[in-house]
Amino acid sequence: MKRSEAKEKIEELRREIEEHNYNYYVLNNPVITDFEFDLLMNELETLEKKFPEFRSDDSPTGKVGSDLINDFRQYVHEYPMLSLGNTYNEEELRDFNSRIEKATGTPVDYVCELKYDGASISIIYRNGRLFRALTRGDGTKGDDVTLNVRTIKSIPERVAGENVPPEFVMRGEILMPRAVFDRLNDERTKDGLPPFANPRNAASGTLKTLDPRIVGSRDLDCNFYFLLSEDLPHETHYENLMEAAKWGFRVPESVNLCKSFEEVLGFIDHWESERKKLPFDIDGVVLKVNSLRIQEELGFTAKSPRWAIAYKYKAERVSTKLLSVSFQVGRTGNITPVANLEPVYLAGTTVKRATLHNEDQIAMLDLHLNDTVFVEKGGEIIPKIVGVDHTTRNENSVEIRFIETCPECGTPLIRNEGEANHFCPNYLHCPPQLKGRIEHFISRKAMDIDGLGEETVDLLFNKNLIRNYADLYELRTEQLIPLERMGEKSASNIIKSIRDSLKVPYSRVLYALGIRHVGETVARTIAARFRTIDELSSASIDTLTSVNEIGPKIASSIISFFADADNIVIINRLKSYGLRFSAEEMKGLSSDKLNGKSILISGVFQKHSRDEYKIIIENNGGKNVTSLSGNTSFILAGENMGPAKKEKAAELKVMLVGENEFLEMIGEE
Ligand code: IVH
Repeated sequence: MKRSEAKEKIEELRREIEEHNYNYYVLNNPVITDFEFDLLMNELETLEKKFPEFRSDDSPTGKVGSDLINDFRQYVHEYPMLSLGNTYNEEELRDFNSRIEKATGTPVDYVCELKYDGASISIIYRNGRLFRALTRGDGTKGDDVTLNVRTIKSIPERVAGENVPPEFVMRGEILMPRAVFDRLNDERTKDGLPPFANPRNAASGTLKTLDPRIVGSRDLDCNFYFLLSEDLPHETHYENLMEAAKWGFRVPESVNLCKSFEEVLGFIDHWESERKKLPFDIDGVVLKVNSLRIQEELGFTAKSPRWAIAYKYKAERVSTKLLSVSFQVGRTGNITPVANLEPVYLAGTTVKRATLHNEDQIAMLDLHLNDTVFVEKGGEIIPKIVGVDHTTRNENSVEIRFIETCPECGTPLIRNEGEANHFCPNYLHCPPQLKGRIEHFISRKAMDIDGLGEETVDLLFNKNLIRNYADLYELRTEQLIPLERMGEKSASNIIKSIRDSLKVPYSRVLYALGIRHVGETVARTIAARFRTIDELSSASIDTLTSVNEIGPKIASSIISFFADADNIVIINRLKSYGLRFSAEEMKGLSSDKLNGKSILISGVFQKHSRDEYKIIIENNGGKNVTSLSGNTSFILAGENMGPAKKEKAAELKVMLVGENEFLEMIGEE
């Protein structure tokens, strides 16, 4: 692969993975299986290894996904919450064992545990009492869900016994038993609410509920797997877990101390079939080096310990009948074929639908109506058809054909050369696309308009109150009040947050416009290079592609966006309402004070997010860099900067500038 291709591919994979992380951790609504996610991550890791010049601190390969939500107070974890390396095959597991034996020079004892498939939780105990509970968050800081956690019966409020350290952290997984999940989803369906995709999402969604009474009513459970403290009672992980069990924590009986690697394989084998009898879901087994001394010797990579690994079980598979195929139109006009199946029980839930991805997938499977198909669930999320049982096909059965016109608006579909998906080109009038663009516009990372969700957008759209995102700024409270499930208070809150969105900086406004292929990162780059929207809209394809990070695909999408007269009308309207269409308008945050400076951002900040600091640096003439070198002018250093980076900075004599000092430097404070 050529360097330029690799660069584009790496960026594309990063964008894609970030979107999946958001779907999974924040929306609790994953759209691909864990297995497919792991494949994407693997591909990115391989490319970053092969082309180290494109490595970046911001890459999802170096971070754990984030579940942070604005409604909770956040705290920094005393011990970062890392993720686990994982594998699906025995060979890689053997490699893991060999690496460890090589490093230590001897065979080691392992503790085998189940990999509980729920939401992880970190609970601080002080003087024997539950002090604070945090979600994993982005691994560095988490949401404070103490009140919710207090309602979970298997989490002790007080602990007692010998050797209880004055302060310790207990980590575990909050789970929703399958029986509770089924009951909850039945109720939700009856109430007209969307069901949860699986018990994991239900557990994590419940944990993030703002009303602890709801959490209390949902019978969540918690299994504990990790004790952390400055004053640990024992020198092995196993003994510490067993001690914690005596204090009152639920440590499952399945935890097993294995004296050889063969015993580990036995444990994995045993639970592959036994797991179906458990009342909750697991997605694999976790293997941990027992000795804490050896754990310390082995240490960590940027996001996971070198002394532990997860072995994940392969997907479960069943067969059922294909009843029909429907075609869904997404917000960008993409068409997704969906198979409607005879209901079948698979990995804990009843499956009625499966995704078919695109035309090629249908052709590859050679699907016919009424075929008996094999369905698989990877990470127990959206099931997928992986094959057809040709022996049972009826001779006269009809082949499934991809549709030629949009099921929503009737426009002939287009499939571009080299692309797998069909899309509906009726950008301006196809209803799901219109609604989708408005939903994107109001989303958190775009204009962040609170109080307006998918349902309200639907409602406003169906009542003909909005047709595009510019219409939002003409809404009046009186128009909203009469709508279903709306009161005076929510109506005026919505109008207020629409008004508040006028403060959103230029780069996010650019992102909110929903120009194809212009994601958050690209929008930031564009805003730094084209300081006003007029400059951007008149840029030629050559000017655009001369910018680092903008390839021909992005450039031509920008050109065609501005070539559309309707878009220009909308932008002019947005300008007249006062949205920010130039970088200079960021009050007080624009100067040339950082001219010529290459700045690396590291750690967690209090006053602005990392993304905001990136923009602030650009708006003050500085350049954001992602790797530390002798050419770095200084590091904008927040809390929790890694020790390795600090050491390297000292070595290279690169100065660390704290958050307040930095703001003073540019004259904000
Ligand atoms: S140990 C540094 N043990 O898996 C070690 N994690 O991919 C960190 N998980 O966020 C975790 N069961 O939520 C550990 N027996 C177990 C686990 C477990 C489930 C989850 C946990 C973590 C994720 C890591």
